[in-house]
Amino acid sequence: LTQERYPVTRLPFSVVSEEDLEAFERIIPGRVVTDPEVLEASNVDWLRTVRGGSKVLLRPRTSQEVAHILRYCHERNLAVNPQGGNTGMVGGSVPVFDEIILSTAQMNQVISFHSVSGTLVCQAGCVLEELSRYVEERGFVMPLDLGAKGSCHIGGNVATNAGGLRFLRYGSLHGTVLGLEVVLADGTILNCLTSLRKDNTGYDLKQLFIGSEGTLGVITAVSIQCPPKPTAVNVAFLGCPGFAEVLQTFSSCRGLLGEILSAYEFMDAECMRLVTHHLCLTSPVQESPFYVLIETSGSRAEHDAEKLSDFLEQVLSSGLVTDGTVATDQMKLKALWALRERISEALSQDGYVYKYDLSLPTERLYDLVPDLRARLGSRAKHVVGYGHLGDGNLHLNVTSEAFSPLLLDALEPYVYEWTARQRGSVSAEHGLGFRKRGVLSYSKPPEALRLMQQLKALLDPQGILNPYKTLPAQA
Ligand code: FAD
Ligand code: MLT
Ligand code: ZN
Repeated sequence: LTQERYPVTRLPFSVVSEEDLEAFERIIPGRVVTDPEVLEASNVDWLRTVRGGSKVLLRPRTSQEVAHILRYCHERNLAVNPQGGNTGMVGGSVPVFDEIILSTAQMNQVISFHSVSGTLVCQAGCVLEELSRYVEERGFVMPLDLGAKGSCHIGGNVATNAGGLRFLRYGSLHGTVLGLEVVLADGTILNCLTSLRKDNTGYDLKQLFIGSEGTLGVITAVSIQCPPKPTAVNVAFLGCPGFAEVLQTFSSCRGLLGEILSAYEFMDAECMRLVTHHLCLTSPVQESPFYVLIETSGSRAEHDAEKLSDFLEQVLSSGLVTDGTVATDQMKLKALWALRERISEALSQDGYVYKYDLSLPTERLYDLVPDLRARLGSRAKHVVGYGHLGDGNLHLNVTSEAFSPLLLDALEPYVYEWTARQRGSVSAEHGLGFRKRGVLSYSKPPEALRLMQQLKALLDPQGILNPYKTLPAQA
């Protein structure tokens, strides 16, 4: 583990005692984990840059059990860290000190699925990939997909308001989540688990918890709108000579592919070198400065193939694209997607990763990457850019052999100030968690920050839910 040192002090929460463990054992018999080996995996985040020191992990199965646990913790002033699949990118999913880890791993039941409306209601601990399989067997798809699908939980996805690879087509979870059940810090069960498409009765409270990163309540169940499964899916993986061509190819495919366009992802040549080197994947196209992955999803194969072929003919003949390959069969589709989805895995094998997840005006999406390469010179091992171009979301990642405070100083606040000047967002889809809690004000005015703090105080007056996360430390 390469670890940075953070200037953070433990808040005056109680320390878990033997009596507390006995009380938890009464609430969830046999599901109170204190084995240090098991705890190790839950105390360290996916990027292996944040490590907590929790001594206990709780595995409730029902919302009532979560409510019991939180009521108890609230009375005892014990801090709690909700945890799903622990794939979060900002250190929000692991404790900072000795917070109790409340895992949703055993809350993994589908509650209902309606095959006319496509509404899925399930517990928060269902793994995204398993839900995908479940709804696909019934002719639907999950409205979100991401590289972490094999581990992340739907509750974690909602808690982080995850974007991912289907955002361009199906939009944000703020639109596709129809209802939530949430347990508040004092143990109150807030049942807003409806499945209505339209409901304007008062404030839409569920929205408050989408993207709240475990700081306002524990999401225990989710109702989500699943779209019908597209019957024809194509993926084109293309090489582009420059970023201007990546942008023009995007405009061209929006025009020519229209309603069947379902993803437009990009990666630079450095990313390709990393996935081929660290993961032994093979590039399907000639070496190029940039690569784009375009997915179409529709209902009639011939129609989509014709549109795609017209588009490819145009971008190839105009020189926007220099090489490309197309897939329709499942195996090749997956192999092409892997080149893009597994970049974060390749990066984490490259060394210590400084990860930035920025929303920027699409036209300027890549400008910061060459700028940083020049600024950092040989201090960085790699500076790479990739991401969800169709959503204006750049993943800017820098690697070095080991954590270097000097490199961090060269990156921050430079990256945040640059982003703020473009009126961008310093966290497009990963959230703020622990690592980015201090940078919220680059993207939100003081009035918004104050209101967030008031909401936190209202919903969690003792601050027991995921302390040290999302909002900056109060003076
Ligand atoms: P965790 O990591 O366990 O938790 C994340 C946060 O949510 C923490 O603050 C935690 O306290 C809180 N939380 C978890 N469960 C609950 C709950 N039930 N109630 C309240 N709070 C809860 N993100 C994207 O947006 N787009 C991507 O394309 C994307 N790709 C990824 C690819 C990889 C390989 C990896 C490792 C991560 C990726 N992510 C992506 C990051 C993303 O945030 C997570 O993968 C996912 O949404 C988190 O789900 P999780 O169950 O692992 O949550
Ligand atoms: C992605 O789009 O690959 C994810 O958000 C993960 C990452 O940014 O590394
Ligand atoms: Zn992403």
